[in-house]
Amino acid sequence: MSDKIYDVPAAWAQRAYLDDHGYRAKYEASVRDPEGFWAEEGKRIDWFEPYTRVKNTSYDPGHVSIKWFEDGVTNVAWNCIDRHLDARGDQVAIIWEGDDPSESRLITYNELHDQVCRFANVLRNRNVEKGDRVTIYMPMIPEAAYAMLACARLGAVHSVVFGGFSPDSLAGRVRDCGSRVIITADEGLRGGRKVPLKANVDAAIAKAPDAEVDHVIVVKRTGGTIDMTPGRDVWYHEAADLVTSECPATPMNAEDPLFILYTSGSTGSPKGVLHTTGGYLVYAAMTHHYVFDYHEGDVYWCTADIGWVTGHSYILYGPLANGATTLMFEGVPNYPSNSRFWEVIDKHKVNIFYTAPTAIRALMQGGDAPVLKTSRASLRLLGSVGEPINPEAWEWYYRVVGEERCPVVDTWWQTETGGILITPLPGATRLKPGSATRPFFGVIPQVVDAEGNVLEGACEGNLVIADSWPGQMRTVYGDHERFMQTYFSTYPGKYFTGDGCRRDADGYYWITGRVDDVINVSGHRMGTAEVESALVAHPKVSEAAVVGYPHDIKGQGIYAYVTLMAGVEPTEELRKELVGWVRREIGPIASPDLIQFAPGLPKTRSGKIMRRILRKIAEDEYGNLGDTSTLADPAVVQDLISQRQNKK
Ligand code: WTA
Repeated sequence: MSDKIYDVPAAWAQRAYLDDHGYRAKYEASVRDPEGFWAEEGKRIDWFEPYTRVKNTSYDPGHVSIKWFEDGVTNVAWNCIDRHLDARGDQVAIIWEGDDPSESRLITYNELHDQVCRFANVLRNRNVEKGDRVTIYMPMIPEAAYAMLACARLGAVHSVVFGGFSPDSLAGRVRDCGSRVIITADEGLRGGRKVPLKANVDAAIAKAPDAEVDHVIVVKRTGGTIDMTPGRDVWYHEAADLVTSECPATPMNAEDPLFILYTSGSTGSPKGVLHTTGGYLVYAAMTHHYVFDYHEGDVYWCTADIGWVTGHSYILYGPLANGATTLMFEGVPNYPSNSRFWEVIDKHKVNIFYTAPTAIRALMQGGDAPVLKTSRASLRLLGSVGEPINPEAWEWYYRVVGEERCPVVDTWWQTETGGILITPLPGATRLKPGSATRPFFGVIPQVVDAEGNVLEGACEGNLVIADSWPGQMRTVYGDHERFMQTYFSTYPGKYFTGDGCRRDADGYYWITGRVDDVINVSGHRMGTAEVESALVAHPKVSEAAVVGYPHDIKGQGIYAYVTLMAGVEPTEELRKELVGWVRREIGPIASPDLIQFAPGLPKTRSGKIMRRILRKIAEDEYGNLGDTSTLADPAVVQDLISQRQNKK
């Protein structure tokens, strides 16, 4: 924990929407009278029919129900595009920067309108209607944004699957939400390497014969050779030639679903997090406005992938609802060189830059020179998201990248929360490196102990949120019981985040990381159970237990303890084979960093694996193993320690 404090820079105090006093007053109002507060804030988007009811939410055990603006009628695509056309039709909506630095495109709001309408008509011609689910498995190209907005325009529910997921993972997600249409590209391009997206879609469909996919729409990105199945597959550019660029926006109830996004939890298969229309958009737009202090004309860049919630809320929906210019980047931070981020900032005169700690740590390892050879004069604000940022990385980001003139907003939130919940506001909040600082408007964080007692003042415990905010997820797609069980049963009557945190004497929050069986690898959420079930699916593996361990760049790495079938030799070759196996089963982000072959795992007498002990061994903290006397075979622990794999 760093005890440094950075004051709000003078220039920021002048220009920002809110100073500290403004923040406190507005926060106070938001929790004193949520109805009145959100009745006003809801007006930041346009409604076809205004709402008369604002908040209708219950966290009651067994009856969790969340509705905001429930009788309002609107359309997300209309708010992100059409309503801006009179005032800013010729303003750039999306700056697209390709993987190769010689490729970029500027898309105005007028062009965005044409493209999205065209895409919507292509979907309409394939009988996509309001409420239908559409899976999007795309690289970071403008067509990914068009496809999402086209779904929103028609009222179809998009489910974006990150392009790094395997055919198996894709198949599971297509099947779970029953989508009959998949939108993809021939290949993706990242860091000069091709990603076989269409081939993965083919493999996914082959793996899920019950999935009933009628149409695969393929955007041409690289021109690489792919197979097209006649009757099922169609090139997007050919289909788009046959339709007009006129398409009305479907009136949507505020509580009609907007999208599903699958995310990992502690148990079972990934959950389909469901977000709806009105509250989500109000919250995404409002947080984007205040947290990034977005002003007319600013160029804003969030480096996330559209396959994660950060891409949904802060590349697409929040910025476009605000009529912003948002940059979409196809590539990676270190291609063609470690200066790429900073070169893109100079090329497009980026003012606001939002990235992840893992990228900052990786670039920091390359030293200051790749940063210093660029100007970054346009930069005014820096943001961080996805995992706790260690004070060293924070300081480097602030000092070297931002030259001590750009505040760093460390934003804490989750797929489930739809938008940012705990964050500094650049003109209002004194910064402490490593702290996400204070709650956003309408958000009531509490710190509780294991028994659920609410702790006061400076304390440490689990982070819960006491009442609903408009951007909150509404359910797990197709499984409301699981939704209530996962988030509202640990501490009845409160939303449990799964994160641990500390609150200091100034009321600042310091997120310490997940307290459940979720690991955060380079800002990507991975359920240990998912990796374990991939491992045990291998014919030579009898049992597996997966935990996280501290990793210099990734934040957390994946440590797998594997027990082999009787008679199987533990070889280096098998270790590699298992890593490749998990990559193929789930995707490269799930690759175990370390695999330890363990003849036995520490278990209680009732046969439960004691993960606490495995975590300690992976973390290299043997001194503190706790009580091992309840183990069925305490000798196992010494064995594991002596065989421990070294980090690197
Ligand atoms: C972690 C990403 C500390 C946290 C938006 C959370 C963070 C999980 C921060 C959600 C932060 C995200 N500081 N931890 N600023 N931001 N996290 O669903 O553990 O991919 O529960 O959403 O990331 O990850 P998700």
